[in-house]
Amino acid sequence: MHYYIVTGASSGLGKETARLLLRPEHHVVSISRREPIGLMAQANQTGGRFTWLEQDLSNIGELPGCVDRLMQLVAASGTPALSMHLIHNAAAAAPFKALDHHSPEEISASLNVNVHAPVLLSSLWIQRIRSLHIPKQLIVITSASADYPMAGMSLYCSAKAGLNMMVRCLQLEQRGLPYGVHIAAVDPGMMDTPMQAAAREAHELSFPATAFFRQSRESGQLRTPESVAQRLIEWMSDLAVKPEADSGTVHRL
Ligand SMILES: NC(=O)c1ccc[n+]([C@@H]2O[C@H](COP(=O)([O-])OP(=O)(O)OC[C@H]3O[C@@H](n4cnc5c(N)ncnc54)[C@H](OP(=O)(O)O)[C@@H]3O)[C@@H](O)[C@H]2O)c1
Repeated sequence: MHYYIVTGASSGLGKETARLLLRPEHHVVSISRREPIGLMAQANQTGGRFTWLEQDLSNIGELPGCVDRLMQLVAASGTPALSMHLIHNAAAAAPFKALDHHSPEEISASLNVNVHAPVLLSSLWIQRIRSLHIPKQLIVITSASADYPMAGMSLYCSAKAGLNMMVRCLQLEQRGLPYGVHIAAVDPGMMDTPMQAAAREAHELSFPATAFFRQSRESGQLRTPESVAQRLIEWMSDLAVKPEADSGTVHRL
C-alpha cells in the first residue's frame, strides 16, 4: 500500500489532490477539522482507501497524538507500506488585516496552522518513518506570498517564508541518507478556491489588496484546483523517479 497523507483535504487543492490519489493500492489519509465530503464514496468507486483524521492543526499540543493515530492506522492495515508521502497543504490566510489589529489568540492560531504544525508534523513523521527502507516524500505547499509582501497578510506571508527555509534545511539534512526523505516546496499558483474567495470578500478598509484578488478572478488568472492537483501528482511521480529534482528552490506548478 502507498500512503498519502494530505493535510486539509476537506477543501480546495487538498481535496482535489486526495480525490485524484484515490486509486487501487493507495491509502489516502486526510487531516482536517471538517470531514472531506464525497471522498469515501470516491474511494469505494476507484478501489483506493480513504481515512479522515479529525484534527484542528492549530492545537499544537495534540499533534504528537495525531501522528500516533496515523502510525497506528498504517500498522493496523496489515499490508506493508510501499511508499510514504506527506503533503502539507492545510493553511489559512484569513483574517486579512494589519498585524496590529490581530488579537494574540488570532496570531497564535494563524502561525500554528501555517508554520508550527507543518514543522512539528514533519519532525514527528520523519522520526517515525526513519527506519523504513521505502521511498518517502514530504511536499510543502507554499505560495508566492513567501516572497511578495502584502499589507494585511503579514502572518500568512511570514509563515510561508518560514516553511520555504524549513524545506531548504531539511533537504540538506536528508540528502544522502540511506532512504532519506525527498523534500520539496511547491507553489501551486493562484487557484479558485475558498481561500481566494475569502480574500476577494475581505473588507477593503482592512485589506486594500481585495481589489487585486477580485481583478485576478475577473481577468481569468485563477486556475481550477483540479488542474493544479493533476499537475502536482504528475510532478510528485517525476520526483520519485528523479530525486535530484528537489533542487532547493521552490517548484512552481
Ligand atoms: N488558493 C490560492 O490561490 C493559493 C495560492 C498559493 C498557495 N496556496 C496554498 O495552497 C494550499 C491550499 O489552499 P486552498 O486555496 O486549497 O485553501 P482552502 O480551500 O481554504 O483549504 C484549506 C484547507 O486547510 C485546512 N485547514 C485550515 N485551517 C485548519 C486547521 N486549523 N486545522 C486543520 N486543517 C485546517 C482546511 O480544512 P478544515 O477547514 O476542514 O480544517 C482546508 O481543507 C494552501 O497551503 C495555500 O496556502 C493557495
